Amino acid sequence: MRAYARRNGADEELWGVTGLLHDADYERFSDMDDGVNGHPRSIMRHLEELDAPPEMVRGIASHADFLGVSRDSDMEKTLFAVDELSGFLTACAYVRPEGIVGLTPKSVKKKLKQPSFAAAVNRDDVRNGAEELGVDFDEHVAFVIAALEERVDELGLRGSASTAS
Ligand SMILES: [Fe+2]
Repeated sequence: MRAYARRNGADEELWGVTGLLHDADYERFSDMDDGVNGHPRSIMRHLEELDAPPEMVRGIASHADFLGVSRDSDMEKTLFAVDELSGFLTACAYVRPEGIVGLTPKSVKKKLKQPSFAAAVNRDDVRNGAEELGVDFDEHVAFVIAALEERVDELGLRGSASTAS
């Protein structure tokens, strides 16, 4: 989110914090059928109580299709486009000795075609997210890899074979 905000000349802090918090209530309120507390309603309400920027709250709402909030802004489209993909790239990094370092869109696409690999990641969301954002899929994957790689140690994505520099 921060990398795309920077590229768009947008508010990096707003985009970054929205990305960071969009699933903050997920573990505690994973029952999305719970119309009161279910993810992401809890975190949205909590942020409203804290007077968080309305675009942050709306952005979080828009990543959850079942809330029926359209994705209109660049931030909303970006959140959806990087959410599942980031998880998938993390899974790819975990099974490589080099971690995220040197991961290519080509090998990511190969893994996307293996239904058993990181099976919880919704492939349609990954594809549709990029399409809604209006970016070339390979470029998008490469961009997000580069963004994660920038923070490789912070994210624990340095594999066992690549030593800290
Ligand atoms: Fe979510």
